[in-house]
Amino acid sequence: MQRGACQAGLSFLAALTLASGPAYAGETLLGPARVVDGDTLEVEDTKIRVNGIDAPEKAQPCRNKSGKVYACGLDAKAVLEAKVGQTPVACEVKELDKFGRSVATCYANSGAGEDLGAYMVESGYAVAYWKYGTEYCPLHEQARAAKRGIWAGSFQLPSDWRHMPLDIDDVVGVPPPCPGPTAEVTNVQGDAVPADELPPNPQCPIKGNINAKGERIYHVPGGNFYDATSVEVSEGERWFCSEREAVAAGWRAAKS
Ligand SMILES: *[C@@H]1O[C@H](CO)[C@@H](O)[C@H](O)[C@H]1NC(C)=O
Repeated sequence: MQRGACQAGLSFLAALTLASGPAYAGETLLGPARVVDGDTLEVEDTKIRVNGIDAPEKAQPCRNKSGKVYACGLDAKAVLEAKVGQTPVACEVKELDKFGRSVATCYANSGAGEDLGAYMVESGYAVAYWKYGTEYCPLHEQARAAKRGIWAGSFQLPSDWRHMPLDIDDVVGVPPPCPGPTAEVTNVQGDAVPADELPPNPQCPIKGNINAKGERIYHVPGGNFYDATSVEVSEGERWFCSEREAVAAGWRAAKS
């Protein structure tokens, strides 16, 4: 009697904890998962942000191998849903992020299965979120080289898209390799480029320069004066993501 009441009290408390939102570092959540998007799960009413990866947002468009626009964010969600299936997941919570979501490494099949974050990066439907950790960089590089998933076509890094979505017509190519601590960026001649001469967004590499006569001229990578041109944002110079964008802003192409 006494014991039964105590157990009932405990499970009531446990239910309260689960329903109350975030789980904390060190906790493991085990339960059926609802896939919210390619990098977010809901386990027992707790929103879980999958650690170390970033998948395209549900509304984010990408372009496939033939250049056609498709809903890569919905594809990423479907890929994660297929992997999770109907079995519970186990999520080891690492921390709470600034949005109060629990950041966790989650495993399929009640914890006996694959690391879901690794799976998403390996299959090419999420990128390594290297700002928060480079553990999935090797898988990111494999997927990039093999052109798996979204790497088959063109896309903008999800973090860049959230911050400043490009017009889909301007999304050309793919994001750069996962930067390791010693990663070095080189120009077309193969010389190392100092970090302060790199575009803030690697997918917006066009340099908008104002010359001595006050003319606004843009330089594309590989152009004769590209490497010698610096972008002084404080003087009104700027980076562009596409020639279209530069022309629309009133800049003209460099002559050579
Ligand atoms: C790209 O998308 C178009 C339109 O959905 C489709 O017809 C085409 O087969 C796709 N190409 C590739 C290579 O996936």
